[in-house]
This record gives sequence, structure tokens and C-alpha cells, in this order.
Amino acid sequence: MFPLALLPLFFLQSFVSADQRSPSAENLLVITAATEETDGFKRFMSTIREFNYTVKALGLGEEWKGGDVARTVGGGQKVRWLKKELLKHSEKTNMVIMFVDSYDVIFAAGPDEVLSKFKRLGHRVVFSAEGFCWPDQRLAQKYPVVHSGKRYLNSGGFIGFAPDLSAIVQQWKNKDSDDDQLFYTKIYLDKTQRTKFNMTLDHRSRIFQNLNGAVDEVVLKFEKSKVRARNVAYDTLPVVIHGNGPTKLQLNYLGNYVPTAWTYESGCGGCDDDLLFYNDVPDDEMPLVHFAVFIEHATPFMEEFLDRLTTLNYPKEKIHLFIHNNVVYHERHIQRFWERHRSLFPNARLVGPEENLQEDKARTMAVEACKKDPACDYYFSIDSDVALTNPDTLRILIEENKSVIAPMLSKHGKLWSNFWGALSPEGYYSRSEDYIEIVQAKRIGLWNVPYITQAYLIKGSVLRSKLSQMSMYVGEGMDPDMVFCKSIRDQGIFMFVSNRDEFGRLVASANFNTSRLHPDMWQIFDNPVDWKEKYINNNYSKIFEDEKSFVEQPCPDVYWFPALSEKMCDHLVETMEDNNQWSGGKHNDERLAGGYENVPTVDIHMTQIGFEKEWLKFLKEYIAPVTEKLYPGYFPKSQAIMNFVVRYRPDEQPSLRPHHDSSTFTINVALNSKNIDYEGGGCRFLRYDCKVESPRKGWTFMHPGRLTHYHEGLPTTRGTRYIMVSFVDP
Ligand SMILES: *[C@@H]1O[C@H](CO)[C@@H](O)[C@H](O)[C@H]1NC(C)=O
Ligand SMILES: *[C@@H]1O[C@H](CO)[C@@H](O)[C@H](O)[C@H]1NC(C)=O
Ligand SMILES: *[C@@H]1O[C@H](CO)[C@@H](O)[C@H](O)[C@H]1NC(C)=O
Ligand SMILES: *[C@@H]1O[C@H](CO)[C@@H](O)[C@H](O)[C@H]1NC(C)=O
Ligand SMILES: *[C@@H]1O[C@H](CO)[C@@H](O)[C@H](O)[C@H]1NC(C)=O
Repeated sequence: MFPLALLPLFFLQSFVSADQRSPSAENLLVITAATEETDGFKRFMSTIREFNYTVKALGLGEEWKGGDVARTVGGGQKVRWLKKELLKHSEKTNMVIMFVDSYDVIFAAGPDEVLSKFKRLGHRVVFSAEGFCWPDQRLAQKYPVVHSGKRYLNSGGFIGFAPDLSAIVQQWKNKDSDDDQLFYTKIYLDKTQRTKFNMTLDHRSRIFQNLNGAVDEVVLKFEKSKVRARNVAYDTLPVVIHGNGPTKLQLNYLGNYVPTAWTYESGCGGCDDDLLFYNDVPDDEMPLVHFAVFIEHATPFMEEFLDRLTTLNYPKEKIHLFIHNNVVYHERHIQRFWERHRSLFPNARLVGPEENLQEDKARTMAVEACKKDPACDYYFSIDSDVALTNPDTLRILIEENKSVIAPMLSKHGKLWSNFWGALSPEGYYSRSEDYIEIVQAKRIGLWNVPYITQAYLIKGSVLRSKLSQMSMYVGEGMDPDMVFCKSIRDQGIFMFVSNRDEFGRLVASANFNTSRLHPDMWQIFDNPVDWKEKYINNNYSKIFEDEKSFVEQPCPDVYWFPALSEKMCDHLVETMEDNNQWSGGKHNDERLAGGYENVPTVDIHMTQIGFEKEWLKFLKEYIAPVTEKLYPGYFPKSQAIMNFVVRYRPDEQPSLRPHHDSSTFTINVALNSKNIDYEGGGCRFLRYDCKVESPRKGWTFMHPGRLTHYHEGLPTTRGTRYIMVSFVDP
């Protein structure tokens, strides 16, 4: 029975003695080497600050001569700097120095944890370990055998008492381009030196986690609001995580959570739009944005897309608009937009399909314009299939102050988005563990990702520095978006996607049939939100807000409410007139034979324009919910085989004699305006002797069909009147 009871005491003792004997946090100095403040360096420094390490960065502002360490040997320059720096500390026996790389390193815990783990390792000098023997594999057999853990030295991270480390690096006599890891390896493999400096390797990643060859061993453990990277092979919680070799993207992924994980799930991570700095900046001091629009394929809702450019909350004089339209079909939209809004965008440049400019060349042209213009603060690129519904998007993205950042966008209700969480070894899409949570905004933040597309903002200064020599969109056998992301990644620039705000959505354009007169009408399945905004009456949703005024009852059991937008009415009528296969009475009699009432009308059915499926979807999505509200207990199947537009004209068919409808209920939508398009018209319910004589465009009647609601269509006395009729649940 004693061991259990003794356990807490044992832990207590070990901690107390650890604290007594190990140096305290102020005796730990972190040293790193960096010539440039890359995005990786900034990330490193933010973890340093997060955990309050004391840090000394060597080499900032100096020219790098240590070779391209990602691909070849090199790195001797780091040892030279360290040799000089450590001379200052060579007598400080209590001081512990930790050297780490910076561009591809993050900290996951603070100095106290490092020191207590260092003490428990029981050596004066500890190097990180990995599974590869590099750069000289012939040395592998000289390494001491280990029974568990990684066997070989990696010099991207080590820790030790100052006098020991100083004595080690004072041995450096090589060139800047010689290999630092080989230098430390030779010392470690020399048994005399190993004993003298009391050296060991961190075989089981208690402090240092090199990711190369160990990606599968490292997982994120989520706990309430905290997350920590854990090595599941050795059951350790490493402190220093190093994305060495080809594992930079894995480090970027882990870096999304370490150490700033604490904000990842808390609603909107401090992004109160009212606090936007740029809201207080006068228009003429706002950053200049080169704003490039790419219309590379036929896209639904193009007029709405173009209209949104005019409603952006950004001073238009600070926008240089560039439009590449590669689609003949959209020339009419550009033309109309241009006629109305050219004065808003005095600096615009339009490139139309007649210029036959390929996508990659067009993208290059637009980005080069910003590169070459020293006044260009930002380059914003947006494709036509982005519905950017948040007018503050530019301000918000600029405020995030990242080199490259995209607003997170996805297809409505789908997992298809404008970013990838991870990259396959071949450089294509791979789903990250957290992809779904980010798309669904269950985790909110700024996410460092390997691929973004369709809408993004780049700092002009980054274009003119790191990216100045890059061909960012043109690449042999690669799509422009792939070339773009690869250029950015290869330059060590971080790409972020933000889901801290709602920015909009992606429009699906795969089933867009431009041979129709008004093809957007057919988009109710693929783009339901855009369809609703365009084609459903603005006041429709108010029916459900108990605002009685939006459902009227002009006759017993006859309801009247807003359903279609004016645009839908117009597009439907224009489509019918374009089709022009109006039935004569005779034709209609035949079709209505067999059980239906014989009341011939001049009409065109939805089947004739190929709109049946879409109309039934409209009935189900928009009419059925109203039915359920108005006739409680009745759940319509929303089937309808009779869906047609009727045309009334004084000289053709002005009215309809009294009849029953062969439906459970009927809807009857006015498609044009009384006193403007026609005079007369309306509907009379004979049993109640109740007339509705002033139909409203876009509003629908809904009334029972059989038995009680014997009705007639009143004569149209001038012009042409159109109504849309559906016999629901026949
Ligand atoms: C870092 O230091 C600051 C001020 O010295 C302190 O408020 C903060 O709690 C410290 N953070 C950690 C993680 O120790
Ligand atoms: C390293 O030093 C510690 C004490 O500082 C000692 O206990 C240990 O045996 C030494 N290890 C080696 C391999 O010399
Ligand atoms: C934006 O980032 C740059 C470079 O990282 C930094 O120098 C600058 O102070 C930041 N600006 C703001 C407004 O935070
Ligand atoms: C596109 O529309 C035309 C004309 O309306 C129609 O004939 C054709 O079948 C449609 N194509 C597809 C793939 O739906
Ligand atoms: C919606 O209702 C308001 C208030 O009655 C009215 O001013 C507006 O014109 C209506 N909108 C449409 C599209 O009918």
C-alpha cells in the first residue's frame, strides 16, 4: 500500500531538488543565427517573446556565406559567430546556453521546462538527434549504439554550460562554407572529447524535436483551449521544434498552434472591426492597392460580382483597377459596368478577349505593374468566381500586416475552399487534420498554409524585394496558381489564410450554360445563396418574422405575399418571349384533356424552357415553408406538373372564365406591373365575391385549388399582363 501514497512525495522531492540544483531561467541564454528577418525568423521571435526567453541573434544584417544549407553542406559561418560570442561567457559556470536555428524553429514551452529537462538528461552538453547520418554517412558506424531513440547528431539545436560550449566552438578553424554539423559530429565521435565535455544526444526528443524523418511521430494533442505537440514514439513533449530538411510545411502547420494556440478557438480572435486602425486613416492616406480582376472562364452572377467592386469600403482613388476578361460572353457585362462606373476608377486598365492574352501572361502583367510602381503598397488579386460580400475585406487583410494573405472562402455549405491545409509529396492537394475545422470556422485564426488561390493580398514591398526576380505565374507544364504558390514557398514567405471574419464565398461555375438567355436563373442548385439574393424578393424572409404586413389575406383563405424579385419576373418573361412558343387554345385543350379543367390559356410551360427542375426546387425551398406556416398541419409534397406563364392581352386572350384548379393549392405570381405594363387584370373568387384588382409585381397569391376557390381571371384592357401559375400537389 505504500508505493501509491509515496508517489506525490517522490515527485515533490525531485522537483524541489531540481529547482535547488538547476540554474534558474535568467541563467539561460538562447542564441540563434540569422542574416535576414524572414517570416520564419519573425515567427521564431514571437515564440521567444511568448515564453520570455532571453535571446541573442547573431548575424542580422550580415551577408550569408554559409552556403545553401537546405540543399548542400555549409553553415560554418554560424560557428564562427558563435565562437566569438561565446568568448564573452566562457567563464560563467552557472550559465546555460542553448543554440538553435531560427528560420525553421519554434518553441513550445518556456525556459523553466528546458532547464529541468536539461538537468534530468544528466550531461553538460546535449545535442539534438535525428535518424539520418549527415553529411558524411561513412561516420554512421562510429556512433555509439542506442537501444531506443534517434542515433545521429543534428547541430540545429544544442544546449550546454557556457564554458563547455565555448571550449567546443573555439576549436573551429574552418571556412564559412564548411559544414557546421560535420564539425560538431567529429567532436562528438571523438571519445576523449565526448567524455571531456560530458556530451550526449537527446535521443528521445525530450527537448529537441527534429521533424525530418519523424513527421509521423509528432502529433498535436488538443485539450480544451491548449494544444501541444507530442512525440508519440517516445511519449515526450519536446520544447524546440525544428522543421529541418524537407519538413518546413509540417513546421508551418504545427506553428499554427504553437505557441499561439490559446486563441485558436475563441470566437473571433480579437478582430473587432470597429477597432480597425484603417477606419481612422483619411482616404488620401490609405495604402495604394493594385486591384486585379481575372475573368478566365464564364462565371454566373457576373453583374453582381462587378457591382461589388463599386461597393468596396475603400477609397476608389486608392485603387488601380486591372481587369483581364478572357470570355467573350462577359464583354456585355464589362461594357455595362464600364459605362456606369468608369469615373470611379480613373486609373483602370481593361484587357479584353480580343487581345488574346493567356491567363499566366495576364497575371504576370498585373503583378508586374505593382512591382514596377514604387507607390504600389499592395497587390490584390481576385478571380471572377469569388463573391466577396464583406466590403471591408481589403481593410481587414491590410490590417493583418502579412506578406501574403487570403480571405478564407468556400462554396456555400461545401468543403471546397480557396486554400489547401497541406501539400502532397508531389506538390498537390492533401487534406490537413484541421482542414474541415477551418473551413467550417470551428477553429478561427490566421493559418499558415502551403497553397492559396482565387483571392489574395501581397505586400508591394515583398514583390519588390524577395519576389522581384521571380516569374510568379509562368511555369513549364504548371498552372499559374501552382507556380504562384511554389514561388512564394520557395522564397520562405509565409502564406496565410484568415477565417477571423466572414469574407464571402466561392461561386460554382461548372454547370453554367451561357447559351440560355438568362443563365443565372438556372443556378438555384449550384449557387443557392447567390440565386436567392438575385431572384427572391428582398421582403420574402420577413414573412417568417411575424410582420403581418408581408402576408396579406385579401379574400378568405387567399394569401398574398412577396416571392420573386423584380429581376426574376423580368428574366422569366424575357425568357418566355424569347422562346415564343405560346400555345393557342386548341393546343391547350389537348394538353389539358384527361381530368383537368378545360380552361385554355395562352401560355408557355416551364418544361418548354427546360426550367421545370429549377422551378420545383423553388417551390420546395421557398413556397412550401410559407404553406406550412399559413396552413398549419399541412405539409406539401411540393409536386407540381402544371407550371406555366400565362399571357393576357386584350386582342389575344384578355381573361379567363370561371374555373376550378386541379390542385390542392395554386400559386399565382404577378410578373409585371399594373398601370405600367398593362391595365385591368386581377382575380375574382366567385363564392366570396371577392376581387383582387391590383396585383403587385413579384407577389404571389396562394389559394386552395379545388372546390372552394372557383375563380376567374379578370380582363386585361391594355398592354400585356404576365402571370406565373403552379398547380401544387394535384
Ligand atoms: C513573461 O513576462 C511578463 C512580464 O515580465 C509576464 O507578465 C508574463 O507572465 C511572462 N510570461 C510567461 C509565459 O512566463
Ligand atoms: C556527465 O557528468 C555527470 C555529472 O555532471 C556525471 O554524473 C556523468 O557520469 C557524466 N557522464 C559522462 C558520460 O561522462
Ligand atoms: C507590420 O509588419 C512590419 C514587418 O513585420 C513591421 O515592421 C510593422 O511595424 C508592422 N506594422 C504594423 C502596423 O503593425
Ligand atoms: C444549354 O442551353 C441550351 C439552350 O437553352 C440547351 O439546349 C442545352 O441543352 C443546354 N446544355 C446543357 C448542358 O444543359
Ligand atoms: C420591401 O418592403 C419595403 C417596406 O414595405 C418596401 O419599401 C420595399 O420596396 C420592398 N422591397 C421589395 C423588393 O419589394
